[in-house]
Amino acid sequence: MKILAINASLRGSRGYTHFLIERLLDGARAAGAECETVTLADLNIRRCLSCDRCHAGGNLNPCVLAGKDDTEGVFARMAAADLIIYATPIYVFNLSSLLKTLLERFFGTSDVRDLRLTKSGLMFHHVDAALCSKPFVTLITCDNMEDDTPRSVLTYFRVFSRFMDAPLVGELVRDGGSLAGHGDPAVTAKNSRLQQVYAAYSQAGRELAQKGRISRATQNRANQSLLPVPFFNLLKRLPFRGLKERFLAEAKKWKLADL
Ligand SMILES: Cc1cc2nc3c(=O)[nH]c(=O)nc-3n(C[C@H](O)[C@H](O)[C@H](O)COP(=O)(O)O)c2cc1C
Repeated sequence: MKILAINASLRGSRGYTHFLIERLLDGARAAGAECETVTLADLNIRRCLSCDRCHAGGNLNPCVLAGKDDTEGVFARMAAADLIIYATPIYVFNLSSLLKTLLERFFGTSDVRDLRLTKSGLMFHHVDAALCSKPFVTLITCDNMEDDTPRSVLTYFRVFSRFMDAPLVGELVRDGGSLAGHGDPAVTAKNSRLQQVYAAYSQAGRELAQKGRISRATQNRANQSLLPVPFFNLLKRLPFRGLKERFLAEAKKWKLADL
């Protein structure tokens, strides 16, 4: 089993996304998988120009940017992998522009005139299955803890899965990144919930290597709330502003070590 993680953080290998990818891949490596990470921040991935030369004249032509940046190299590594981890921080409620820019380059590998029916019954054009239809995991990091924050990325990749015929084999969402010290070992050492979360990441990696998917139980442990506040996500629906303001005033003082 070859697993390729695509790290779309602007902080590259200095960021929390990288830290979480490493926890996941540690487990996968221990279970025998061959693992590699592509760090988009270190590469030159140019934007699709929408020139449509790839689709001109009735053929699927090579992209005009071929050989002018690092996209082909990344695509070759994706094609060689059995499973892909799309790992992105939330930037302004959505996926990183680094990742979106890479995915938009799929356009030049797909024949948009060749309409087909996907396994999920959607009408869509031909895609290069070796590249676009790999089983994948969505891995999201963000600081905010409202469940609205990662929603658009979760939805994006669920839709991606159906159009691309790419099996979605796990969804890892680590919110509360700043509360967790973005992987700071001193913060981790003081919080057993966080230790459980990182152990679940390694377990998720083992499961990917052995079974090709993350079990529901492991995913729930990895995605557990760092706040010992029951029904946190119901709070936003309560009509009592005063109560929420009191909650917020308390939350500003929180350090994970004290929770
Ligand atoms: C440009 C930018 C926009 C961000 N927007 C959000 C946001 O909308 N919601 C959120 O919870 N965190 C947001 N963050 C915080 C990051 O998602 C969070 O710190 C993440 O863990 C960073 O991962 P990294 O260390 O791998 O870069 C933003 C960060 C940056 C740099």
